[in-house]
Amino acid sequence: MPFYHKLGEIPHKRHTQFRQPDGSLYAEQLVGTLGFSGVSSLLYHINPPTQISRIREPRPFAPKRAEGVKLAPQHLRTVEANVTGPDYLNARKTLLFNSDVAISLCNPSELEMDYYYKNGQADEVVFVHDGTGELLTQMGRIPFGPGDYLVIPRTVIHKFRFDKGERQVRLLVIESFSPIETPRRYRNHFGQLLEHAPFCERDMRPPLELITETAKGEYLVQVKKEGELHQFYYKSSPFDVVGWDGYFFPYAFNIKDFEPITGRIHQPPPVHQNFEAHNFVICSFVPRLFDYHPLSIPAPYNHSNVDSDEVLYYVEGNFMSRKGVDRGSFTIHPGGIPHGPHPGTVEASIGKKETEEYAVMIDTFRPLHLTEDALAYLDEKYPMSWNDDSDDKVRIGDMFD
Ligand SMILES: [Fe+2]
Repeated sequence: MPFYHKLGEIPHKRHTQFRQPDGSLYAEQLVGTLGFSGVSSLLYHINPPTQISRIREPRPFAPKRAEGVKLAPQHLRTVEANVTGPDYLNARKTLLFNSDVAISLCNPSELEMDYYYKNGQADEVVFVHDGTGELLTQMGRIPFGPGDYLVIPRTVIHKFRFDKGERQVRLLVIESFSPIETPRRYRNHFGQLLEHAPFCERDMRPPLELITETAKGEYLVQVKKEGELHQFYYKSSPFDVVGWDGYFFPYAFNIKDFEPITGRIHQPPPVHQNFEAHNFVICSFVPRLFDYHPLSIPAPYNHSNVDSDEVLYYVEGNFMSRKGVDRGSFTIHPGGIPHGPHPGTVEASIGKKETEEYAVMIDTFRPLHLTEDALAYLDEKYPMSWNDDSDDKVRIGDMFD
């Protein structure tokens, strides 16, 4: 994050003696990315963060690429995917991946986690589609609700606690093998977000208060790295931090705090950009006024995205009344072939004043692969849905990109 934050107690000077009430030293830990060149924070633990009591066998946790998938527009219909697993990690089903990013859905049935989790090599953005609760981290707690992007930098140990609600918890997990950042063009030389950015630092919610667990025992931390979940047991809780400061911390940003950029004529997808990482971007489509040139066409034009795969995840809006699509649908428009509005959509869009739809878009600059888990949700009719004589007039994605 390009701003400084601190919580709890920290010594006046870094790397100096900082003592506990019993006279012993707190254990200082630097966490950050890009070696010593990226953003970082200093944490002060009651116990050293290195005291492992045992390590159990790792378990495989890598997506399996589906074989024989044709190059075509794809639609994954996941609305009927109710519970995808018991706990947070077992519920995570990766649908698309490449060497830069992995995209998963995660609908856990259990409200509490009896272990801690750390991604040892990737940042994670957890988009909360349905559910409320708290993200509990070493650096404090963050309450969350629908529409929140929870940005969790690599190495931050955390767990989720979900409230019992009417709707099944539904999460979209975006795993990034490079740091998640705000778009560079929206930041000034000092890192501050500029006036023309569609959001600012005030919209980002860092941890509110620390969780300080002091009891000794055995604490399981599952660490994801290199396609496996490693099983570490520590002698003390990873949530034993009494204070921290720096630029490296998890935060929440709600999609409803994204201020849309509109124009007289159709604006291209980059105006919707929310985050960037190496070789992919995350965009937020939010309710907005349509283009206001007297002859404007609100529907997007056909385009040939030779250099990127475009993934849209449907969150809320009018698309729910359209045949074939529902909340939780993914569309994938791969690079190399053009895509555009369905028949009739361009004419029908003329004169429309606004949209009430929400969607998350992930555009990658390297091809994505469908997984074996994704095949269960595949809509076989979607690639042919642009034909005038198609009996399945799917109308998804027409107004987004
Ligand atoms: Fe597109």
